[in-house]
Amino acid sequence: MAPRVLVTRRIPDAGLKLVLDATDADLWEDELPPPRDELLRRVAGVEGLLSLLTDRVDDELLDAAGGQLKVISNFAVGFDNIDVPACTRRGIPVGNTPGVLTETTADLAFALLMAVARRLTEGYDHVRQDRWKTWGPMLLLGRDIHGATLGIVGFGRIGREMAKRASGFGMRVLYHDVHRASPDDEAALNAESVEMDRLLAESDFVSLHTNLTPETEHLLDADAFGRMKRGAIVINTSRGPVIDPDALERALASGQIGGAGLDVTDPEPMRADHPLLHHPNCLVVPHIASASVATRDRMAEMAAGNLLSGLRGERLPTPVNPEVYDQPNPA
Ligand code: GLV
Repeated sequence: MAPRVLVTRRIPDAGLKLVLDATDADLWEDELPPPRDELLRRVAGVEGLLSLLTDRVDDELLDAAGGQLKVISNFAVGFDNIDVPACTRRGIPVGNTPGVLTETTADLAFALLMAVARRLTEGYDHVRQDRWKTWGPMLLLGRDIHGATLGIVGFGRIGREMAKRASGFGMRVLYHDVHRASPDDEAALNAESVEMDRLLAESDFVSLHTNLTPETEHLLDADAFGRMKRGAIVINTSRGPVIDPDALERALASGQIGGAGLDVTDPEPMRADHPLLHHPNCLVVPHIASASVATRDRMAEMAAGNLLSGLRGERLPTPVNPEVYDQPNPA
């Protein structure tokens, strides 16, 4: 009999079809995520869960699912929505979709950087609102990207791709990460490892590429904004809570921060009356960094691959908790 699985949203056919062909799938078809009570109800008795970053996977959900649950496959590279240690304790491997979205995400981060630096949305509003009367010597003056210093926080796959783009635009690149890159990688990427204080003090642009963990929550708070160059621009394509949104709002209001480009926010979704959106130099897009047709197809294939491997009792191609395979008798 085909294994029962729950797929919490429609994902691209490239992966969905693989899942539907091989399993007895309950597919949540709505555009919005399943409400919590619906999720807990539908997960009962399944062997596999294909989740999204909008689904909280914790002890309550794992209890609701039952002891037959064999695998959780998250359709995202980030997995802060999942209590991974709780899954590991129960012997459940968790998969994510690393690698395939790296360049696409860095492309969006750099697009945000350019758009905020050169005030593209303000320019577009200017035209659409019929305020364009003539060429103006002082109209919408922005910031140069070439020659500026970019501080990259989190120098993993996506942070490094950001460094490549910056280097192509003639930027100086600083980075901060708990793991230092090899001298060869630093040389190839033209990037210098620095302490966070120096990164904040010297960067014209600060771009966040770190995981969300207790250590990185509110990494950019009032104190950090205060230590940045006056007028610096902040880019976030990591997770919303890495920035304290109230502190960012105050820093934009005072001019301490010159602009922000946010793909991720806290909370998500951000409502249109959020105070950050009152600032014309704050550009917010709805968590779309990996949203290219080709990349979402590849994420869907990967998520399906993890799910189906787990159902067969095979090692997931990309587990986030490989330690699950080292425990002989999971509790
Ligand atoms: C998106 O934010 C992801 O983690 O893939």
